[in-house]
Amino acid sequence: MPTSPSNRRSLLPTSLLLLLPFLLFLSAPTPSAAQVTVYGQIPLAQTISIDPSATDAPVDVQPVPTLAAYDETLLTPPPIPNPPPATAYTLELQREAANVNGLSIPHVGGGFFGYSVEMSVINQVMGKNSSFIQVPFLNLMANIEERAGSVLIRLGGNTQEYATMVDELPNGNALAKEDSGTKATTETPAVLYTKDLFYIAGNISTMVNVKWFVGIPFNDSANWRLAIAENAQEVLGDNLLAMQAGNEPDLYARHEKRPSDYTFYDYFGEVGDLIQHIDANDRIPVKNNLLAPSLATGDWNPEDIWNIGFLEAYIDRLWAITMEHYPTNNCFAQFGVGSPQDPQTNFPSYLTHNAGIELIRIYLNTSRIAAEAGKPFIMFETNTASCGGFPGISDSYGAALWALDYGMQMAYSNFTYAMLHVGGQNVYYNPFTAPPTNQTAFNQWTVGAVYYSTLIMAELFGKSNTSRIVDLWGNAGNVYTPSYAVYENDVLSKVALFNYVDDPTGGSDLTVGISVPGAGVPNTIRVKYLEASSVSVKTNITWAGQTFGNKYEVDGRLRGELNVTTIQCDRVANVCQVPVKAPGFALVFMEDDEAISIGQATQTFATTARTRSHNTATVDQQVLATSNGHSGKDRALNGIGSTSVGSVSAATRLRLLQGGVLTVVVGMVGVFVLIMR
Ligand SMILES: *[C@@H]1O[C@H](CO)[C@@H](O)[C@H](O)[C@H]1NC(C)=O
Ligand SMILES: *[C@@H]1O[C@H](CO)[C@@H](O)[C@H](O)[C@H]1NC(C)=O
Ligand SMILES: *[C@@H]1O[C@H](CO)[C@@H](O)[C@H](O)[C@H]1NC(C)=O
Ligand SMILES: *[C@@H]1O[C@H](CO)[C@@H](O)[C@H](O)[C@H]1NC(C)=O
Ligand SMILES: *[C@@H]1O[C@H](CO)[C@@H](O)[C@H](O)[C@H]1NC(C)=O
Ligand SMILES: *[C@@H]1O[C@H](CO)[C@@H](O)[C@H](O)[C@H]1NC(C)=O
Ligand SMILES: *[C@@H]1O[C@H](CO)[C@@H](O)[C@H](O)[C@H]1NC(C)=O
Ligand SMILES: *[C@@H]1O[C@H](CO)[C@@H](O)[C@H](O)[C@H]1NC(C)=O
Ligand SMILES: *[C@@H]1O[C@H](CO)[C@@H](O)[C@H](O)[C@H]1NC(C)=O
Repeated sequence: MPTSPSNRRSLLPTSLLLLLPFLLFLSAPTPSAAQVTVYGQIPLAQTISIDPSATDAPVDVQPVPTLAAYDETLLTPPPIPNPPPATAYTLELQREAANVNGLSIPHVGGGFFGYSVEMSVINQVMGKNSSFIQVPFLNLMANIEERAGSVLIRLGGNTQEYATMVDELPNGNALAKEDSGTKATTETPAVLYTKDLFYIAGNISTMVNVKWFVGIPFNDSANWRLAIAENAQEVLGDNLLAMQAGNEPDLYARHEKRPSDYTFYDYFGEVGDLIQHIDANDRIPVKNNLLAPSLATGDWNPEDIWNIGFLEAYIDRLWAITMEHYPTNNCFAQFGVGSPQDPQTNFPSYLTHNAGIELIRIYLNTSRIAAEAGKPFIMFETNTASCGGFPGISDSYGAALWALDYGMQMAYSNFTYAMLHVGGQNVYYNPFTAPPTNQTAFNQWTVGAVYYSTLIMAELFGKSNTSRIVDLWGNAGNVYTPSYAVYENDVLSKVALFNYVDDPTGGSDLTVGISVPGAGVPNTIRVKYLEASSVSVKTNITWAGQTFGNKYEVDGRLRGELNVTTIQCDRVANVCQVPVKAPGFALVFMEDDEAISIGQATQTFATTARTRSHNTATVDQQVLATSNGHSGKDRALNGIGSTSVGSVSAATRLRLLQGGVLTVVVGMVGVFVLIMR
């Protein structure tokens, strides 16, 4: 079904027209030296807390010469497992959902994976202000929307805790940072933002159907700062889904954000106090859209919260139940603290079906509790590893397979959504990265392998709000060859097939037979593949033959011809044979499906060539213009790269080791500088 552009899309938003003079300015010869505003000074020997069990703080410190997001580390793929998985197996699949045990709840809109954008990098990835929105970002979101109908974005993370709204910031910026001043063990610099932050989000939602989550600052429960709730509700209206009440409260004591004897009872009380303040505040009309408890599940278990009557007390105030979790951390390699973690040693642990299963085992009770309470259950922040992820792992094709399997496992376990965390240029795991400020004239965006996973999850569940998924445990339960089936409108719709084995000889390529009882296989099935030459590569990753391009090449649009493989089934033998390379991922469409023909989204936000660039996006306009029967030029917006604030800061709060605060001295970078254009 072709998607007809709605009215809101057919007009060039006036706010973006405002950009034009600015764009002309940018395309003029190199502007004179960037202004530098020094907001604050942080002492050279900065004392910071490191916590590997926490979810991620923004990693603003740049400890290595190459920015992590562009790291070239290539790991060695794990050896072929011994014993190897069988290279041929058959799945006997029921056509009717009614005959299948263990199907998940139906997955409703939003594509399952959303993005958790660390508050301090909003201006890098979304835009400098509401008249300057990042075009590649819009394209990336449009590609999710095309498949899932909407996109979910959480604005927050650790930097939300000290966020403070101000009337104005220099140079038209909607967001900036300063050091958090008086605190002795200084942590994340406070994020300063203006009301325009909500207009950025609001304007994005007029162009792409993005729904938002925000976080209420929780650093000071004696002086609630509710400006974010007031203004998000006022500006975003229905596009604001919910507001987080506390971010990893189980780590507050360890991080010295609360006294060391702070317990879940205290958190319970603080949420109650927050609710009273919300009730008394006329500028917060929606009083029942909170998200909690967002445990890192480091120092408390979910059951600690459920056992004290938290849900009974607040169920009517909650929009969803949230948790935040990463499989491991990379604090040592990034910052020299914590226990060393060798990426090469860790790599195999991502390339197995057990990875996702182990990661969410601690939440299975909670998933049931949420379902019984009739609330969505959201993995609110996650990615390959905290402290920025691992070089060689987080941006590899292997990570894309990991995220897909993990996402499907969460969906099967009745999580409603999961938010992949997005940091700055200094992390390895970003689904997408805006160019560093001082390279915007030359380079463009970079898409991480896990962005493809989010795209595929959006395609997997589609827009019908009826898709349910089941883990099939095919191939005698071999963990290197997982498989799932999706039932949509109560019939078998798609089959997802993985092969984690890396074997360039072809000797480990799989052939998966799909059989449907009662001579149920169709004449033909269609298959889309997520392909790359090895689990370790970061380049030339394709989804159904199309790619966003390699690093610095991305404008958010898929390029190349859509390549959907048609497979003839053997109706006499009642089987369809699907090849899956080693490594590989195949999404099999069992019936006609709108998603089969979706490649690049029909709505695109075109980036026009920038004159000074030697290395701009190498999008082939011809291909774009013809690939999907739609012009890629229908929105002649100029996609300037980031005008965002670049920051260098030692005041990065990191993750801590199990068992208490590890206080370390980092003297790498002493001055906190905001470079503004
Ligand atoms: C909370 O953060 C705000 C903004 O950074 C700051 O002004 C305030 O002093 C902090 N309160 C506590 C108790 O840390
Ligand atoms: C955005 O920033 C530019 C300067 O870069 C400024 O001219 C413009 O007024 C700002 N827009 C808003 C809405 O603040
Ligand atoms: C878009 O931004 C402008 C300011 O640049 C603001 O006046 C307007 O309300 C915003 N629109 C939405 C829908 O948020
Ligand atoms: C999960 O719930 C079951 C009973 O519903 C209980 O026996 C078990 O201890 C719970 N698991 C955890 C980790 O608390
Ligand atoms: C998910 O929910 C469905 C429907 O309630 C239930 O049948 C299924 O057992 C649940 N799955 C898990 C893994 O809890
Ligand atoms: C960009 O900034 C980094 C760190 O501040 C510096 O090392 C690099 O040389 C700069 N690159 C350009 C092209 O100015
Ligand atoms: C699916 O659910 C979303 C969110 O609730 C809703 O906006 C959309 O209209 C629904 N789509 C269908 C086909 O029911
Ligand atoms: C990526 O693909 C291009 C074009 O097919 C090819 O020239 C290049 O060598 C490939 N790069 C890698 C690292 O495989
Ligand atoms: C389409 O993809 C299949 C599967 O990878 C491949 O065998 C085939 O060569 C591709 N076709 C084109 C035209 O690239």
